[in-house]
Amino acid sequence: MTQYDAIVLGAGAAGLFCAATAGQRGRRVLLLDHAAEAGKKIVISGGGRCNFTNVHTAPDRYLSSNPHFAKSALSRYTAADFLALVESYGIAWHEKTLGQLFCDGSARQIVAMLLEECAKGAVDVRCGAALGDIDHADGLYRVQYGDTGGDTVASAPALVIATGGPSIPKMGATGFAYDLARKFGLKIVQPRPALVPLTLPGDEALFRELSGVSTEIVARCGKAAFREAALFTHRGLSGPAILQISSYWKRGDTVTAQFLPDRADGWLRELKRERPRLSFRKALGDGLPDRLAEALCERLALEGELGALTDKALGAAEARLARWPFLPDGSEGFAKAEVTAGGIDTAELSSKTMEAKRAPGLYAIGEAVDVTGWLGGYNFQWAWASARAAGLAI
Ligand code: FDA
Repeated sequence: MTQYDAIVLGAGAAGLFCAATAGQRGRRVLLLDHAAEAGKKIVISGGGRCNFTNVHTAPDRYLSSNPHFAKSALSRYTAADFLALVESYGIAWHEKTLGQLFCDGSARQIVAMLLEECAKGAVDVRCGAALGDIDHADGLYRVQYGDTGGDTVASAPALVIATGGPSIPKMGATGFAYDLARKFGLKIVQPRPALVPLTLPGDEALFRELSGVSTEIVARCGKAAFREAALFTHRGLSGPAILQISSYWKRGDTVTAQFLPDRADGWLRELKRERPRLSFRKALGDGLPDRLAEALCERLALEGELGALTDKALGAAEARLARWPFLPDGSEGFAKAEVTAGGIDTAELSSKTMEAKRAPGLYAIGEAVDVTGWLGGYNFQWAWASARAAGLAI
């Protein structure tokens, strides 16, 4: 049995950064992952360019049962800190939109950087390591691992759960973090798919026929609102605005879309006075893709010249276009979810170190924890910040 100072489970974003941080502090660290290579989700993230952080990172851009939990870690390791690391490796980057920072080149540069950081800390990185039994006795966590799960045993006084959430199982994602946390008595906040396309029921077939059409909207659900592009799909709704709002959506909730979000109140009635001969269909078509304008006209059951339509009918159309209701019947689930909301209950963890209060030496970081960021680099920033907090504590 080999003894380490810490064993980190999961060589994704959080596990790699935590292991590197602890290793560079002189800790002997073993980093285990069942996948053949480290950081697989990083490689495919941001369309292959990794949206590695967001300059607008702030605690209110995260969902959690305890909205205050993320504050401490996020304030102690910021987007600027991670950017400084990226720059120290000469990795070229750019800001795309809404504060999102991407690599100019490949996301693989971020994985290579993290592996190099691990090497600097002499971290023992073992990929392709299936995990077997894990137990705790006499102040040590013992982990069995190997090709078949149990050939080798390692022990350490600290064990870090960094195996992420179950989103995109075909990439090797599992609910392992929750099983292990439960084994040590920690509570789990019901995991659910987030940043995920929403599906529409059959009576919304009109919209499903618009598959491929995209337009800028303000998507709203409860108090949450996001102004970004929405995309109609053959199953329902996607695009950044919908992915964002999906994290706030629960079954039975209505999501509203504000089409033509720059139009002021009363715009159709004003247009009627200015251009009474303009058709209603053309009025909508100026600013919306043709097929969408057509579908909306059909649903609104209004046609003909604006001058022939009553102010009341036009006012009602304006109101509907500003809050077009969709009642999704579900989401595309973990198979398509970019992240998992819910997870290891933050009430179980120290917000400063990520250590479990009722299981000393056990830590949980990254997506495994009930902290979920908006779309746009926020989830990686949480991975880095929570990993740093644990890496400095073990
Ligand atoms: P992560 O999932 O990265 O790592 C977990 C590791 O644990 C994996 O290496 C896995 O193999 C391993 N593991 C799991 N179960 C195991 C088991 N039973 N035994 C051993 N090992 C196990 N975020 C963002 O901020 N910007 C972006 O651009 C994107 N883009 C993006 C695209 C796509 C397609 C997806 C699916 C996700 C994103 N994300 C994102 C989200 C981001 O990838 C995610 O939040 C982080 O990778 C979470 O980091 P973790 O280290 O917590 O988990």
